[in-house]
Amino acid sequence: MSLLVTGGAGFIGSNFVHGWLASSQAPVAVLDKLTYAGNPANLAAVQTDARFTFIKGDIGDRSLVEKILIDCKIRAVVNFAAESHVDRSIHGPADFIETNVVGTFNLLESVRAYWGRLDEASKQKFRFLHVSTDEVYGSLGPEDPQFSEENQYQPNSPYSASKAASDHLVRAYHHTYGIPVLTTNCSNNYGPFHFPEKLIPLVILNALAGKALPIYGDGSNVRDWLYVTDHCSAIRRVLESGRLGETYNIGGWNEKTNLQVVQTLCSILDELRPRSDGLSYSTQITFVKDRPGHDQRYAIDATKIHQELGWKPAETFETGIRQTVQWYLDHPDWVAGVTSGSYRDWIQTQYGQ
Ligand code: NAD
Ligand code: TYD
Repeated sequence: MSLLVTGGAGFIGSNFVHGWLASSQAPVAVLDKLTYAGNPANLAAVQTDARFTFIKGDIGDRSLVEKILIDCKIRAVVNFAAESHVDRSIHGPADFIETNVVGTFNLLESVRAYWGRLDEASKQKFRFLHVSTDEVYGSLGPEDPQFSEENQYQPNSPYSASKAASDHLVRAYHHTYGIPVLTTNCSNNYGPFHFPEKLIPLVILNALAGKALPIYGDGSNVRDWLYVTDHCSAIRRVLESGRLGETYNIGGWNEKTNLQVVQTLCSILDELRPRSDGLSYSTQITFVKDRPGHDQRYAIDATKIHQELGWKPAETFETGIRQTVQWYLDHPDWVAGVTSGSYRDWIQTQYGQ
């Protein structure tokens, strides 16, 4: 099975490609627009693997996508490509509509054209797996039950609204055209190659740079954290055995307040890379103005994927967060490339405008 991974130069997509090539013989083509969040360095370790192909391009470019589907004899598409940062969606929602809604629509149209021309056996084996988020379900109160697949969609940010729209399109292409789709809705991920605009990598890198650790509001907002390789193993499981047209919630049963997360990061850094003045990194914590419309709590009920497909996470929050801090300490070159923006210069040299 040749796989097309869209958005494979981003955080989760690149982790997925590494996991796929380590556990399967099947070739992988990555299609990525290389926005600010797409970093070729995330895929450096597989560049010379004969099973790996990289194509710079947009999921909305139908002629390019159809050519890739045909030339690479694609049997499954895993769609990670998206604008993914809530704060950016508040400042500039247009890119989110363009990629997450219009881009997913165009990708589905390309897949529909290609899939329609396959023979019956290939049609049945084909899969389109859409990677989505728990944020489509909205915000929970402290005592509310976790999100199940039956929850109503109530997105609150331009990001989550654009992801919700894409989920609906994917569902409609199954019901209307019979495309064999699967959708996953996952909680907050963390781990290697995470771009430092998101809470966990931002706090690690700001701490080491002696900068403030900004916590929005009072730090009581709750997220359910999953180590990225566990998300990737869940996607592989859904791809292999998921029931067509179904959605699967993926989560880590690891609800933490933002303040707990930041304090945990500070105490691991105090142990692994103590500050020269002997003070704790927690002295750098700074409470800042809250995010507009900040969702209070996300929590995933992952019973369905556990019971139907036998998936469960391999990491706890304690093991995953320690490995994450260690990864950032062990990869100063990756960190320097990302924080200086020098990887953008390389993309310009390699691909031009
Ligand atoms: P990311 O921002 O790190 O990566 C997104 C990738 O998509 C980048 O490489 C970018 O260059 C690429 N891309 C953007 N627009 C594109 C386009 N039009 N055509 C082709 N490529 C394009 O995001 P991530 O955190 O890796 O998230 C991947 C997916 O998982 C997203 O769909 C996101 O909604 C979903 N998700 C993320 C999380 C999380 O915690 N990060 C949790 C649940 C679901
Ligand atoms: P983030 O990593 O942006 O993910 P999401 O908004 O998709 O959940 O943020 C995680 C939580 O951390 C969220 O409640 C917002 C909060 N946060 C801060 O308190 N400070 C920060 O600097 C950032 C980026 C996020």
